[in-house]
Amino acid sequence: MRIDVLTLFPNMFKGFLEESIMARAIKNSLVEINLIDFREFSNNKHHKVDDYPFGGGAGMVLQVQPVYDALTSIEGYKEALKIMVSPQGETFSQNKAYELSTNKHLIILCGHYEGYDERIRDYFDLEISIGDYVLTGGELAAMVLIDAITRVKPNVINKDESHLNDSFSDNLLEHPHYTRPREFMGKEVPEVLLNGHHAHIEKWRYDQSLKRTKERRKDLYKKHKGGKNLE
Ligand code: ADE
Repeated sequence: MRIDVLTLFPNMFKGFLEESIMARAIKNSLVEINLIDFREFSNNKHHKVDDYPFGGGAGMVLQVQPVYDALTSIEGYKEALKIMVSPQGETFSQNKAYELSTNKHLIILCGHYEGYDERIRDYFDLEISIGDYVLTGGELAAMVLIDAITRVKPNVINKDESHLNDSFSDNLLEHPHYTRPREFMGKEVPEVLLNGHHAHIEKWRYDQSLKRTKERRKDLYKKHKGGKNLE
């Protein structure tokens, strides 16, 4: 999978792409990330990419020209799925991460300033928000998308595809986990996890997932299949 990112701040991605699972996925050619600084495509002699809003108002607006020229310079851009990140988009989710992970080529545009010139939207297929809050720019949102998409791709995490048990994969939050020591300052690991009875462990984990989801996320609990039949 290839992901091209249109950004004014490519350095923001450095640590993210050079550490841990992302770095390994890139090294193993499971994902290829290209950072494109679209300021370099500005026609303006000062390399400006923003301007005052027609009609007045506070803040600056991202211009269409540099974005269009940067986008159309990308090989295969016509066939790629083109995504803008913005607080006005559809809210990102685990399901969306799975769906997007099957694409061969994604292009992600990171906005800045007060907003996008509305005509930029004509060149993109999809607008995604990572939540109901406003960031100073789209870079963190793009990293969230790239991270969540990459980790569900085959062979990125490990061979048994441990992400299939993640929170949200079945509209349930994950059950509690424990590791050594068996006892810490009087707090003990639940007995059921120590006796090696797999059916009992599975049942305990499922019950814990249900309980936790019901307590913390009523919205997910209602969506979980079977959840409706449980009080
Ligand atoms: N840019 C600024 N805020 C954002 C958000 N919440 N999601 C995606 N992109 C953004």
